[in-house]
Amino acid sequence: MGKRHQLQFYSNQWYPLPEVEPHDLSGRTVVVIGANVGLGLEAAKHFARMQPDRLIVACRSVKKCDDTAEEIRVATGFGRTAGYTVDLSVFSSVLDFAEKLEREQERLDIVVYNAAVATQEYVRTGDGYEQSMQVNDLSCMLLSVLLLPRMLETAKASGSTAPRPRLVVVSSETHHWVTPIQDALSSENLVEKYSDPGHCSQPGAMTLRYPLTKLLNVFFVRELAERLASAPIITCSVNPGFCKTLLARNLRLSVFAALRWWTYSSLVARTAEMGSRPIVWAAVSQSHREKALHGHFLSDMEVREESDFAVSKEGFMMQKKLWDEMVQALSQVSPRFKEIVDRYLPPPL
Ligand SMILES: NC(=O)c1ccc[n+]([C@@H]2O[C@H](COP(=O)([O-])OP(=O)(O)OC[C@H]3O[C@@H](n4cnc5c(N)ncnc54)[C@H](OP(=O)(O)O)[C@@H]3O)[C@@H](O)[C@H]2O)c1
Repeated sequence: MGKRHQLQFYSNQWYPLPEVEPHDLSGRTVVVIGANVGLGLEAAKHFARMQPDRLIVACRSVKKCDDTAEEIRVATGFGRTAGYTVDLSVFSSVLDFAEKLEREQERLDIVVYNAAVATQEYVRTGDGYEQSMQVNDLSCMLLSVLLLPRMLETAKASGSTAPRPRLVVVSSETHHWVTPIQDALSSENLVEKYSDPGHCSQPGAMTLRYPLTKLLNVFFVRELAERLASAPIITCSVNPGFCKTLLARNLRLSVFAALRWWTYSSLVARTAEMGSRPIVWAAVSQSHREKALHGHFLSDMEVREESDFAVSKEGFMMQKKLWDEMVQALSQVSPRFKEIVDRYLPPPL
């Protein structure tokens, strides 16, 4: 089954991944969400070297957008980067971002949902959700669905022999760490439960929150792929491996724990550039057999089985339940979201 031996984890971490293969992205538009630092920034640089028609970097502020575009220009010489602001913890910002992309971009060929927050602290957003649930999962679904019509139009304009538009969601191997069997079997509304301050303040409830959000990424991509049926879009989730980035910045570690974390990551973590390679691979490679990626979890540049829980009966039950609950919640946020789901994403037969 999906779990790999720890030794394999370490050997994969230490074994350098193949260099990014150059692809020609001329005429195509690439969007990287969460592009100002870490894996998103390194992935954006790789895309820039492939000379897309337009590279959109989505960051939280105008300054971050401008700094990112400049860093990409200096590193690669590429000058067609546009910065769009978005705060994924605010639904109205996601709606504005999606609307602007649709208004200004005729094509959306590659969309990488890379942004995420890892925290064990309960923060309730203005929309009433636990922050990491909203940033890592709810906004991912909201944005992906809102961009679907433009991606479908892109596929149509490109013709049947061109690579299909791809939606890549950056997940994580840490999704193996959670086995929420009781949640899968319960009749509670999980979207509400995972944001409920009472539930989240129970001991341990937030400890594995980040891996849970990454499991939900795997579920989202699988369900989306199934519902897209024969629509000409490829979606996959990808594990970049354990990498040295700023992801742990919100974890409140004691001095001792921080020192241990620093030592561990110095010994084991990939560089951000190395971690960006599987993300770029997920977005551009395998155009001759792209359907083999559709709906799958990719790791170390190949399709890998998801966690034991994710592939269990309970895992699939939870996936369907969460899809329905998230659709219900997000339909309150955007009538257009609901229209697109009804039109393009019917339940699988
Ligand atoms: N690093 C690892 O070991 C590792 C392992 C497995 C998977 N991953 C995944 O890889 C992806 C990239 O993570 P990373 O390691 O590069 O972490 P990172 O350096 O912390 O980058 C996270 C990105 O997400 C953005 N972001 C966070 N909250 C946001 C919000 N509310 N609105 C808009 N953007 C927001 C950040 O922007 P700001 O700078 O403005 O906060 C930043 O651009 C994530 O999906 C993560 O789960 C990482």
